[in-house]
Amino acid sequence: MDISGNTIIVVGGSSGMGFGVAQAALAKGAKVVIVGRSPERLAQATEDLAGGERVKSISADVTREDEVRHLFEVAGSFDHLFVSAASHLAYQPIRDFDLEAARKTIDAKLIAALLLSKYASRQINGHGSITFTAGIAAERPMATAALVAAVNGGLFSFTYALAIGLAPVRVNTISPGWIDTPIWETSALAANKSARFEQMAQRLPAGRIGRPSDIGHAAIFLMENEFTTATVLPVDGGHRLV
Ligand SMILES: NC(=O)c1ccc[n+]([C@@H]2O[C@H](COP(=O)([O-])OP(=O)(O)OC[C@H]3O[C@@H](n4cnc5c(N)ncnc54)[C@H](OP(=O)(O)O)[C@@H]3O)[C@@H](O)[C@H]2O)c1
Repeated sequence: MDISGNTIIVVGGSSGMGFGVAQAALAKGAKVVIVGRSPERLAQATEDLAGGERVKSISADVTREDEVRHLFEVAGSFDHLFVSAASHLAYQPIRDFDLEAARKTIDAKLIAALLLSKYASRQINGHGSITFTAGIAAERPMATAALVAAVNGGLFSFTYALAIGLAPVRVNTISPGWIDTPIWETSALAANKSARFEQMAQRLPAGRIGRPSDIGHAAIFLMENEFTTATVLPVDGGHRLV
């Protein structure tokens, strides 16, 4: 399958991996609808993508059912959904865990995936696909990442079940390793970012930290490959093994 001319909804398309996926889809001749909460970030990303009429944006908080319903009403029919949106991920020692922070993390990665699947399934084209974004914490968690590991691992299982439930629509998940995106500036992981990136790059078989374009490339593969469904695709430079 060739996604040229297809409509791709990219939830999280105003930053990081989602922006990389939007860029890759435009380069393939697709139309993109980028989604995020901040209208300002969406406007900036639309300008940066420079795709003219092929780029639209819709502001929505995808942890809220009314906003997800409205998003798909405005978007109309489409071919592929890519989801990388997440914020408020709680990295905390389990002894001190804050319940409110935990609920926000579950909302951001699992409830959002559930809501997006519910409303997307009503109008996605039958040849289309849905791709979620999990993360290396599912398989190589840090000491403070118990909940982030759980929601990412939960997305693996959600993907397998949804691929059965929504067939023939294909459902996959990308599980990224460390990718240099703005999420690193806003999370508890920001401290010593450069030094940590350098150390990780030396450990990784790939010899470098990931880029949003690495995720864009993988996402296009999952949209175009008609025989790939119920798959969790690590794009992590070999992080799982080191
Ligand atoms: N970067 C890494 O090293 C890494 C590693 C493993 C896994 N991951 C996972 O990869 C995913 C993408 O991360 P990223 O690094 O690309 O992050 P990012 O650069 O911070 O981008 C996040 C995007 O999601 C949007 N967003 C956040 N919450 C939203 C909500 N409730 N509703 C709608 N849009 C929302 C943001 O826009 P607004 O803020 O305007 O809403 C932004 O466009 C996340 O799921 C993260 O857990 C990242």
